[in-house]
Amino acid sequence: MPLMDAQEMHADGRRYVLVCRSVDVVERRGYRVEIDIEHDLALFRVDGQVRCVTNVCPHKREARIFDGFVADGTVSCPLHAWRFDLCTGANVTGQAGLRTYDVIERAGRVWVNVPE
Ligand code: FES
Repeated sequence: MPLMDAQEMHADGRRYVLVCRSVDVVERRGYRVEIDIEHDLALFRVDGQVRCVTNVCPHKREARIFDGFVADGTVSCPLHAWRFDLCTGANVTGQAGLRTYDVIERAGRVWVNVPE
């Protein structure tokens, strides 16, 4: 049983930060969470599961992934259409991918593993 307080919890020795409510993350639309300057995140719901990737596109370093077009478990950056797998972060055209973050969804809340 993880230790838990209002804003973070620890599970398997890793820190998870409370980022939003479950209802905030819906299918086919991104949800942006800015935790700090190093962690600008984009959350998506894919086949019922919440997935989290960095919101910063590796192409031009623009923070727009949350606003991308979502289809078939991927998101396309709205600026130049680089396309990324939302489970692995891989760029489906073989270029640089997105960093992924582990997610726990529990009791109507979404927690993301953010290293300290
Ligand atoms: S900034 Fe995302 S594809 Fe160019």
